Amino acid sequence: MSMLESRLMGESVIVPGGTISGSVELPGDKSISHRYAILAALAEGPSEIANYASAADCQSTLECLRRLGVEIEVSGRVIRIDGAGLDGFAEPRRALDAQNSGSTMRMLLGVLAGQRFRSTLTGDDSLRRRPMRRVIEPLRQMGAEISSSDGDLAPIEIRGGRLQAIDYSSPIPSAQVKSAILLAGLYAEGVTSVRESVSTRDHTELALREFGATLERSRGTIRIHPRPRLTGRKLVVPGDLSAAVFLLAAALIVPESSLMIHNVGLNPTRARVLDFLVSIGASIKLASVGLRDGELMGDVSVRHSTLAGGNVSGAQAAEMIDELPMLAALGPFTEKGIGIYDAKELRVKESDRISTLAEGLRQMGARVEEFADGMRVEGHAAGKLHGAKIDPQGDHRIAMALSAAALGAEGDTVIGDADCVAVSFPEFFATLARLRGAEAAP
Ligand code: S3P
Repeated sequence: MSMLESRLMGESVIVPGGTISGSVELPGDKSISHRYAILAALAEGPSEIANYASAADCQSTLECLRRLGVEIEVSGRVIRIDGAGLDGFAEPRRALDAQNSGSTMRMLLGVLAGQRFRSTLTGDDSLRRRPMRRVIEPLRQMGAEISSSDGDLAPIEIRGGRLQAIDYSSPIPSAQVKSAILLAGLYAEGVTSVRESVSTRDHTELALREFGATLERSRGTIRIHPRPRLTGRKLVVPGDLSAAVFLLAAALIVPESSLMIHNVGLNPTRARVLDFLVSIGASIKLASVGLRDGELMGDVSVRHSTLAGGNVSGAQAAEMIDELPMLAALGPFTEKGIGIYDAKELRVKESDRISTLAEGLRQMGARVEEFADGMRVEGHAAGKLHGAKIDPQGDHRIAMALSAAALGAEGDTVIGDADCVAVSFPEFFATLARLRGAEAAP
């Protein structure tokens, strides 16, 4: 156990100081892992997925696939999936439990819309509060029978069947909604189109192509042809950039830090956060960038930097949606603070991220203004942060964002329910402790 970070009964105590230095390779990207597992299950023949995410969310996807009769073998970070084919799933005897994972629930709804059996999808308390109408509606338009207690919340019962293609303009920029429709499109009669006003992460499109689907993309519209022959593949998942950003934030906050993260996913629909950080003064460099299985990946290095601060709004907010908690936590360490606008989706994530962040940061002494669709966190003129006892409301990204902020505070911070980080980055506290014990990079 590190002197700088200790763990007690689900709590993590962050003692400020030290430096973040050395190099690290991170577990596989959560978003990509879900998609590879689902498509490997729908493909014909065996697939091997290396560096599969250790995130609990991605284990939930595997559990649901197993309940649908898919054979999956796990050895360390490598998983082998025996593809069942588009019509090879078995009717599950029990409800499929997506636990905390919105991606699992929404994307599997798309797949189940094409199955001629009835199944029920449920999740934990947080997931059962999250909006599902956004997927239920288009899948109903395609012909799936779907019921849930109030038309919006899980548990959701779905009976798939004969689907018709639709041409759908998503009112909410959401990669999960887009993915659910594209997956259902594999089963539809005709060519299914999804139109996006903001380009959300495109891992589903890239992965569908890797497995052999026919897909066209032009200016905001994606069209998927039905009934492709999907074939099992050998794939490697890049490290998770959305996990890496909490380590980047820690290194930016703590003076004299210098950190290298190897083999991180740099898909342009995910990496806008790096551009934003550079634009506010962060010293971030990329190296060894290349394509693997259709996804861009490379090494990211960062040094402690003086940050100007700035605003995120419009399309940027949707493009960086998972990184906004980290940016809010950086606010007190910048000159002008951080403003987040047009981000009302933050209110329906694993927690209401606007109010959870505002409360946590205020407890640490930050000056925060909360809006319906965002927040403004004042810069360092508002005073130095101090240690506090934080309740992240079971939200992994809040726990990690406030842990990074705690490194630059005066006094210790106790992160309650710290185990919630397992949802996306189970190794977070151990990795942080290791990097704080490492020798400074030359
Ligand atoms: C995800 C899409 C985003 C993101 C989530 C993962 C995905 O959600 O916040 O963490 O893997 O497609 P929305 O589709 O709700 O924006």
